[in-house]
Amino acid sequence: MRRREMLSLPVALACGSAVLTGCGTTRQIGNAATPTPAPSPEQAQEVPVTPPEDLMREHGVLKRVLLIYREGIRRINAGEPVPAQPLHAGAGIIRTFIEQYHEQLEERYVFPRLVKAGKLTDTVPILIRQHQRGRILTSRILDTTAKPTPQQARRDLAANMAAFIRMYEPHEAREDTVVFPAMRDVIPPKEFIEMAETFEDEEHRRFGAAGFTGVVGQLADIEKTLGIYDLNQFTPRV
Ligand SMILES: [Fe+2]
Ligand SMILES: [Fe+2]
Repeated sequence: MRRREMLSLPVALACGSAVLTGCGTTRQIGNAATPTPAPSPEQAQEVPVTPPEDLMREHGVLKRVLLIYREGIRRINAGEPVPAQPLHAGAGIIRTFIEQYHEQLEERYVFPRLVKAGKLTDTVPILIRQHQRGRILTSRILDTTAKPTPQQARRDLAANMAAFIRMYEPHEAREDTVVFPAMRDVIPPKEFIEMAETFEDEEHRRFGAAGFTGVVGQLADIEKTLGIYDLNQFTPRV
C-alpha cells in the first residue's frame, strides 16, 4: 500500500484523541466536505511513514554508500585494483538520490521551517555548506571512476571518499538526532501529514513505482559485487 492511501488513518485516529487540529475526518486533507471512509482491516494494521522516518531511511541509503566507499578505500590502501564500476554506481546513487532528492527535501521543506522558527540557526548554514562541499567531492569521485581509475588517481580518489565519509557521518547523525526531531516542534500536525504526502509524490516522480525500495535493490547489487552484502560477515567472533 502506498503511503498516500494510509494517510487518512492517523487523521481519523488522532481526531478521536484530539491530538490534531482541524479534524474534518477528511480523505483528502483540507477538504472537510468528504467524509473519511473507514479504514479496511489491512489499512488498520499499517502505520504511515512520517517525514522524519522517511528522511532517516534515506540516510540509511547514504550510510550504505559510505560503506561502499570504505571498501573502496580499503582496497586502494591494500594495493588492490580500484573497483571503479561499483564505486561509480555508489556515487551515482549519492548524486541522484541523496543530493538531487534527499538534500533538496531538506533544503526546501525542513531547514527553512526551522530557521523561520529561530531554531538551529547556527547549524543549518553548516549543513547547507556541507551539502555543497559534498557535491564537489561527488563530482570528483564520479569523474575518477567513470572509467578504469588511473594509477596516479588512486590516492586522490581514496582521499575524496575519506573526506566524504568524514563529513557525512557527523552530518547525518546530527540531522537524525537534532534536526529531524525538531521538525515536530515547528511543523503543525496537519502540515506534517501533508509533507509526508509531498515527499511520497516526489519520491515516485523521480524514482518510479519502486521508489526507495528500488534504490535499496541497487545498493544490494553493488554490495554483492564488492562482497560486503552478507551481513553476518560483520559479526565478531567473541
Ligand atoms: Fe543534510
Ligand atoms: Fe540528510
